[in-house]
Amino acid sequence: MSERQPLQSPIGTHDVMADQSPLWEGVVAHFAQFAYRFGFSMIHTPMFEDVRVFHRGIGEKSDVASKEMYVFEDRGGRSYALRPEGTAPIVRAFVQHQPTVPFRAWYVTPAFRYERPQAGRYRQHHQLGVEVLGTDDPAVDVEVISLAWRFYQALGLTQVRLLINSMGHVECRERFVDVLREELHEHRQQLCDDHRQSYAENPLRVLDCKRPSCIAVTDDGPSLPDFLCAPCADHFARVRTGLSAIGIESVLTPRLVRGFDYYTRTTFEFVADALGSAQNAIGGGGRYDQLAEELGGKPTSGIGFGSGIERILLARAAEGVDQPLINRDIDIFVVDTTGHDVATVLVDQLRGAGWATLRAYDNRSMKSQMKLADKSGAKVALLVGPQEEAAGEITIRELRSADFEQSQRVVLREEILATLRQTLGK
Ligand code: HAM
Repeated sequence: MSERQPLQSPIGTHDVMADQSPLWEGVVAHFAQFAYRFGFSMIHTPMFEDVRVFHRGIGEKSDVASKEMYVFEDRGGRSYALRPEGTAPIVRAFVQHQPTVPFRAWYVTPAFRYERPQAGRYRQHHQLGVEVLGTDDPAVDVEVISLAWRFYQALGLTQVRLLINSMGHVECRERFVDVLREELHEHRQQLCDDHRQSYAENPLRVLDCKRPSCIAVTDDGPSLPDFLCAPCADHFARVRTGLSAIGIESVLTPRLVRGFDYYTRTTFEFVADALGSAQNAIGGGGRYDQLAEELGGKPTSGIGFGSGIERILLARAAEGVDQPLINRDIDIFVVDTTGHDVATVLVDQLRGAGWATLRAYDNRSMKSQMKLADKSGAKVALLVGPQEEAAGEITIRELRSADFEQSQRVVLREEILATLRQTLGK
């Protein structure tokens, strides 16, 4: 018989196993709390979309759409893409369903990008995010940014900086891009190999480039905030003063243009300094006042952000604040040596009363079941053997007590819930 090789998860993906999942759950539960507090409703959209949602949404020539998307044809010949990000699908749903505005959605979703995997960069990552559609009031920019900021604070992160910029509206940006293109043309020999060829097509991408040669050229070049028209400059100033008013410091970062074509006006990124310089953006977002129209809807302003769960967890670990935010401890372990239905009935009753309860199976020996009880982390073991069964009793042993033999006592079956309430304090 040929031996079957065990198969692995795809490159750049990872399983979230039980040792990690309480950390995950805690982050998501905290985000849900914040989103609720800020008046957002949870929205689910499909994991895949008509590829045009992303081509039109994030820009066909953006790196993500042109190089990183998982595109496939279904059996009916339709072209779909696994979602590489969460914003374009939400705006597609907004245009499709026309909900009342302002529309406030939050989401948690996997996102798929065919990237070169490394620490903090995966082919499937997971994002938490919010989107608001239907207003361009700078107070909304402040609110969206503050939601992320307060959330990071609640997770115990202290080494996070908020970088901010404004890309202006379409005309401000076009004026800037024309000047930038000329500047890049003049210094094209100094650009990195990639951008020496491609700078003319999308000069903004050169601002995103992390190579020192491109940084040197663009550092001396034109600066986006200098190209803002009066209304865009006023919008940006109000976002920044609003943030200051609630004690959130923002660092003006003129080269922050972000990777998608949909951004207009405010763009921002949260950088975790504890992560070093490579994959240190734990969240990012901005305005997209043209996106609804690009996707066939009425002109509708929008703003939001997305934050990577894996990177948040890496940042928490790097800052040494990685305790779980949610309690997933087991309360009770039922040890049964009767082989009858006693354990089944008892476990059902305990879970019905709200306790996290485990038991053993397969008629294991008492010793082996006690080992499992210890390993489970349960606070209390309930023991039922033939003697207890005959007498209508249960033995309680407190597993975390220094002298658990001493803590052992026998109670009547009908008194077990009341006794546990006293012992476990709930
Ligand atoms: P993004 O900056 O591409 O923006 O992604 C948001 C966050 O997802 C990043 O800051 C990072 O934490 C995480 N992330 C992105 N790519 C990866 C990856 N390959 N591996 C691990 N984590 C990753 C967006 O996706 C926009 N939709 C954000 C937005 C919402 N803009 C407006 N509304």
